[in-house]
Amino acid sequence: MNMKIFVRTFGCQMNVRDSELVIAQFLNNGYKLTDTIQDADVILFNTCSVRQHAEDKVWSELGRMRQLKKNKSDLIVGVIGCMAKNLENKIIERMPHVDLAVSSNDLANTYDYVEDILNKRQHIVAVDSKQRDKSFYKNLYHWDKKHCYVNISEGCSNFCSYCIVPYVRGMHRSRLADDILKEVKQLIKDKVNSITLLGQNVNDYYSKFKVEGLKVKKINFVDLLELISGIKGIKELSFVTSHPKDIDSRLFDLMVQKKNIKKYLHLPVQSGSNRILKLMNRGYTRKRYFEIIEQYRKKVPNGILATDIIVGFPTETEKDFNETLGLLKEIEFNFSYIFKYSPRPHTKAKDLVDDVSKEEKKRRHGILLSLQKDISRRKRKT
Ligand code: 5AD
Ligand code: SF4
Repeated sequence: MNMKIFVRTFGCQMNVRDSELVIAQFLNNGYKLTDTIQDADVILFNTCSVRQHAEDKVWSELGRMRQLKKNKSDLIVGVIGCMAKNLENKIIERMPHVDLAVSSNDLANTYDYVEDILNKRQHIVAVDSKQRDKSFYKNLYHWDKKHCYVNISEGCSNFCSYCIVPYVRGMHRSRLADDILKEVKQLIKDKVNSITLLGQNVNDYYSKFKVEGLKVKKINFVDLLELISGIKGIKELSFVTSHPKDIDSRLFDLMVQKKNIKKYLHLPVQSGSNRILKLMNRGYTRKRYFEIIEQYRKKVPNGILATDIIVGFPTETEKDFNETLGLLKEIEFNFSYIFKYSPRPHTKAKDLVDDVSKEEKKRRHGILLSLQKDISRRKRKT
């Protein structure tokens, strides 16, 4: 009888791709993918730790697995991704019916860990690798027939003061350009024609590329994008996420030059207040952010613009908040993803007093959400 795997993914696009790459390991070993949790022999939760709320959702799902496991003693339940790294052994201590915890950098061996558990019936916590084994990217599986995400880098070394990512995914590493191009070409052979390049900060990309017949060339993100956009068969190419501090205006020139590059820029601003931006360790000012937007709009007519904002960062006053509100009104993003600050382990900001009350965060969140709703509605009509 065929074994079945069920994977539930929480969080960002990065996790969507990681889930696909983990599923591929199981499909290659004879498993079938199921979307009915009750039918599964292996259940994996690919998790997010960016906000406390994201982890709380996983805890409640994991709690529900207790009964399922009672009815099916061979069932394997695993937590993979950010939460595994953040909490390590604590996951199994709190929920002993969980068999497995695998961090983002240890995912290449997920199938082997499950096999080990099936043979030896013992818990496995694999959370120590500093980087991913390259073999992780070799398998082919994507949910969408025509579209696929491709990682260009892993981790992040920016250390925004509120962000747990550098701790749970490790320091920034750019993947080799040759490996990325190989993966893209393999996907095109598999009938994919739309690619989204993924990195916590794509603009931080830096690698070497072997030009045929020439010496090795050093390339940055704009060069990589140009190389990929030139690959035959790519109808649409996009990328997330960009960081204002590393934006190179050549990027906008390339976006206009190349028809197949999507005119979409996700550029998280996080706050409109210089004081808060500094406390967040973002590396740019409000003025610089406006300059980048001006350049983008000038060079990329009809470009779509999206951002992320955090409300209620420690010490955020009404004046700081109004600066964010003003920035949102002035720029009129097509989309804004607005979050209430939550202190995260390991981060610098967790040592600051989380002094904006829950109610006040909710109020500020509501004001920005309804403003953005109006802007998005208006923009859709034009
Ligand atoms: N609290 C609230 N939002 C956060 N983000 C990252 N860390 C936190 C936190 N501690 C948001 C940022 C980031 C997005 C992915 O999540 O806006 O851009
Ligand atoms: Fe987190 Fe900042 Fe890195 Fe984004 S750029 S993942 S917010 S540390």
